[in-house]
Amino acid sequence: MKLNIAVLPGDGIGPEIVEQARKALDAVFTKKGHEAVYTEALVGAIAIDKTGNPYPDETHELCMNSDAVLFGAIGDPKYDNDPKAKVRPEQGLLSMRKKLGLYANIRPVATFPSLLHKSPLRADLVEGADFVAIRELTGGIYFGRPQGRSEDGRTAYDTNVYSVEEIERITRLAFDFAMKRRKKLTVVDKANVLATSRLWRETVQTIAPDYPEVEVEYMFVDNAAMQIIQWPKRFDVMVTENMFGDILTDEASVITGSLGLLPSASIGLHTSVFEPIHGSYPQAAGKNIANPLATILSAALMLESAFNLKEEATMIRKAVDASLEQGKVTEDIDKTNPLSTSAVGDWIADYISAM
Ligand code: IPM
Ligand code: MG
Repeated sequence: MKLNIAVLPGDGIGPEIVEQARKALDAVFTKKGHEAVYTEALVGAIAIDKTGNPYPDETHELCMNSDAVLFGAIGDPKYDNDPKAKVRPEQGLLSMRKKLGLYANIRPVATFPSLLHKSPLRADLVEGADFVAIRELTGGIYFGRPQGRSEDGRTAYDTNVYSVEEIERITRLAFDFAMKRRKKLTVVDKANVLATSRLWRETVQTIAPDYPEVEVEYMFVDNAAMQIIQWPKRFDVMVTENMFGDILTDEASVITGSLGLLPSASIGLHTSVFEPIHGSYPQAAGKNIANPLATILSAALMLESAFNLKEEATMIRKAVDASLEQGKVTEDIDKTNPLSTSAVGDWIADYISAM
């Protein structure tokens, strides 16, 4: 198979971790006789530095013309500490989502047996936890207008907007996921306060009869934040709006033991994007210490969902499991005897080559 992959390393640790994912991919492609063409493009702070635009048109065109996008991370502290900056790296990510129509962000939350002791929760609470969070990604308060300041600058406002169409497509996708899993769907909202949440519930209720096998429950977001900690095993598929999803998935990611392990897929109308859920970790940039596993697992997710290469995805996942079991990991997991980012990437590629 020939695979056209756009590679957007972005900022901070992005370039280092994406490089390791490419090593793993290349090892698989060599073994299985696939041919990959990688084309790199700019996004984020580095794109602002070089072009003034955090998501240049060239990058967008490349993404549109590729089969899949492998994405690193974006963000730079020089913008975080400057609320008056006119362009921000995050705008690049948001306009990429909008222009590629990436309305669903899929974040699988699974535990690794060898890492149970790293979880901030008791091992018996997290052992076997396995759910998928589906976050709406191109609507809600992130994109709603009006947004801004009053003329005197002393009042600011954001607007949360959802249409029935936006809710319907993400809801159907969530039901489809539930049908392939344990057939339980939790809809997270704030319907006791927000009009948008009430429209979510109403819309889900009209779709639910099409999926009679799926058990649907509705949960307020504050309660969901608590239940993720108290009883993570109760969840199978969770669907929620953009901002609630942003917050809950960071929370969910740490119960597995390390933020450095969770991959994600953003899917929708055009090319899908695969990226680790952690950010650009600027303190570690260039130090060869960041955990590349979330990006390597994102590459596995890409093989499976963009190319339907299930066996190939499993090869990568097996190599990642082996690296965790054998302690071939970075310092976030093993402080006393860590490997570097590139050494983990090499170990995984070698493991795949020897399969
Ligand atoms: C994420 C990130 C982004 C978001 C930021 C960087 C804009 O936190 O992908 O979860 O809020 O969506
Ligand atoms: Mg986030």
